[in-house]
Amino acid sequence: MQQSLITIAYIAASALFILSLGGLSRQETARRGNWYGIIGMLIALIATAAAMNVGGLPILAAALVPGLVIGAILASRVQMTSMPELVAILHSFVGLAAVLVGFATYLGPHAAMTPAEKNLHLGEIFVGVCIGSITFTGSVIAFLKLRGSLSGKPMLLPARHLLNIIMLLVTIGLGVAFFMSPNEASGQWPLLIATIVTGILGIHFIMAIGGADMPVVVSMLNSYSGWAAAAAGFMLGNDLLIITGALVGSSGAILSQIMCKGMNRSFVSVMLGGFGTESGSSTSSGSQEPVGDVTSVDATGATELLLDAKKIIIIPGYGLAVAQAQHSLAEVCKILKEKGVDVKFAIHPVAGRLPGHMNVLLAEANIPYDIVFEMDEVNDEFAATDVAWVIGANDIVNPSAMDDPGSPIAGMPVLHVWNARTCIVMKRGMASGYAGVDNPLFYKDNTQMLFGDAKKVVDEILGVMRG
Ligand code: TAP
Repeated sequence: MQQSLITIAYIAASALFILSLGGLSRQETARRGNWYGIIGMLIALIATAAAMNVGGLPILAAALVPGLVIGAILASRVQMTSMPELVAILHSFVGLAAVLVGFATYLGPHAAMTPAEKNLHLGEIFVGVCIGSITFTGSVIAFLKLRGSLSGKPMLLPARHLLNIIMLLVTIGLGVAFFMSPNEASGQWPLLIATIVTGILGIHFIMAIGGADMPVVVSMLNSYSGWAAAAAGFMLGNDLLIITGALVGSSGAILSQIMCKGMNRSFVSVMLGGFGTESGSSTSSGSQEPVGDVTSVDATGATELLLDAKKIIIIPGYGLAVAQAQHSLAEVCKILKEKGVDVKFAIHPVAGRLPGHMNVLLAEANIPYDIVFEMDEVNDEFAATDVAWVIGANDIVNPSAMDDPGSPIAGMPVLHVWNARTCIVMKRGMASGYAGVDNPLFYKDNTQMLFGDAKKVVDEILGVMRG
């Protein structure tokens, strides 16, 4: 009876997790999706606790309560811009958990098995521990790089691909030794050495990746952590963990692919690790240096341009998030719309510092979803637009991605803002963006630079409009 209730709870939790992913895929349903996930996780926790024998409950509580408290404090304090760091460190816990579960399953007591079952069991343990170890060390390095504790520059050891292949072959050899071991006492050694080797592999993979490619890494590690959790599910015979792990693993892989497209990286090179080294954030320019003078405008001049326009497309970027200008911007949009101006937002898939960063910002300021468009939906509309208003964005509107094959971001899809009649670019100075490359957009004839902190300048524009 108890077992069937637990099975029903697990099925309900799995369904809620799938509904959650579905909900999170659209801005309008994201909040609901979040709630489905929370309720699903609550059901999963209660059912798992109910499945334990009573003696295990105090240990579960001792692990769960501090985890819940620390998690809640960290999540409530974290800045949106630091979210990738938090995600990276959380992935490292999943990897570590998979390693610990693997060792506990191998060394702990287990029921008698047929030779086929035993081989399957050993396979689950070995693969789970290796994926867990790569995920753990790789995520810790990604966390340190994102935090700035480690340099964002790629670390390129000589013959690094050969080194990776050697480590992979050594791991396979250790796997064979693990399978051949007559008992746990001798089998624990190849397992332990494989954990260390794959741990080093994880460090080496991520150290070789340039700062500009870190978002794809975090998303890839998200996928790895899902597969590590699924492997732990197989080891523990827990169907819900297998389903959840597979959902995280596959959705992480799909997100990575979308981001690869957004940053013009190939998925295969991401899978192999050590990618993106050509475009480390240290590079400052492409083969063509931007030339020409910069034309600047003040808040009053920009307000006139905005009020004279019939159609405006706003391109938000990382600077909007840093300045927290979204609420003032929402007010400006309201006034423009009241005056009959057609206002749209264009969102680049990797604008900001995490997937969906701009959508979250705009949703915070209650900007209506129906004026927010993905890059591909509006890119052709710039030619018929009076003002393209770029706020705190840089790389995602860099024409050298299209025009300059020597540019470190060559091939990255960008928003064609220069096709608009006038392009207002709002930022504090002439600094480059995340990828560290110069932007010829600033020197174009139809570009007007509006210098200053985004919040301060949007407030000034709002003041002029209201005045
Ligand atoms: P960036 O290219 O990083 O440009 C942001 C610009 O905002 C900077 O050039 C900066 O110029 C300006 N800025 C900073 N603070 C500001 C403030 N308070 N007020 C006004 N402007 C300010 O951003 P983007 O165009 O959004 O492109 C995103 C980049 O980040 C891409 O290269 C992408 O690959 C990378 N990335 C993306 C993600 C994801 S998943 N979204 C994650 C990590 C990295 P000033 O200093 O001159 O003001």
